[in-house]
Amino acid sequence: MRLHINIDHVCTLRNARGTRYPDPVFAASICELAGADGITLHLREDRRHIKDADAKALRASIGTLMNLECAATDEMRGIVRELRPDVITLVPERREERTTEGGLDVVSTRDKLGPFADLCRELSIKLSLFIAADPAQIRAAAEVGAQQVELHTGEYCELSEATRGAELERLRTGARLAAELSLDVAAGHGLNRHNVGPVAAIAEIEELNIGHAVIADAVFMGLERSVRELRAAIQRARK
Ligand code: PXP
Repeated sequence: MRLHINIDHVCTLRNARGTRYPDPVFAASICELAGADGITLHLREDRRHIKDADAKALRASIGTLMNLECAATDEMRGIVRELRPDVITLVPERREERTTEGGLDVVSTRDKLGPFADLCRELSIKLSLFIAADPAQIRAAAEVGAQQVELHTGEYCELSEATRGAELERLRTGARLAAELSLDVAAGHGLNRHNVGPVAAIAEIEELNIGHAVIADAVFMGLERSVRELRAAIQRARK
């Protein structure tokens, strides 16, 4: 199981005061030291956490893999051409949302995604689409030329252990369908060391993207331990 740590909220904390610290480059290095397989960052249109200069500095310093989350806009296509991340995850973006609230509607936005798929092919960048575990969206992702889907676990995370069974089953079925269509399968959003187990246990899911909870735990236990504790929770579920 690949574990990619999203470090956006290191920048949220830094930007709250307009200081130079905490430094996302330093955070990424600690995550890598703690065993992360990759670093994820979301360059939002409003630059509320990661800024352009952060993305550039991270590109130069990340030694594992850089997964850039962005919206499917012309501006981001230009940035991708310059930055050359290893993976791009396309996400829906609305300015007023607190975080990425829903999955990408691949079915109705194919025309916007096509140019990204072409660019990724040209630059040998892996294209991942962040979608709900909905069969129509998964099939459309394969048709549009993505190599991976990242299944949205937000709804699963909001439910209690007693009520999340159906949503977990939807994730399992979606992961199976994506794998049948030869897509790599990732998952993410809202996961933490307490709720990650059942998702990590889904055999077809090969990658998790986790951010907010890792940075939150880091406040109390330090970033290195936070990543290691999360990895341990994933390993326990994977056995
Ligand atoms: N995956 C995607 C596509 C996301 O947009 C986010 C949030 O930026 C995450 C994973 C991580 O979510 P969280 O911060 O809740 O762990």
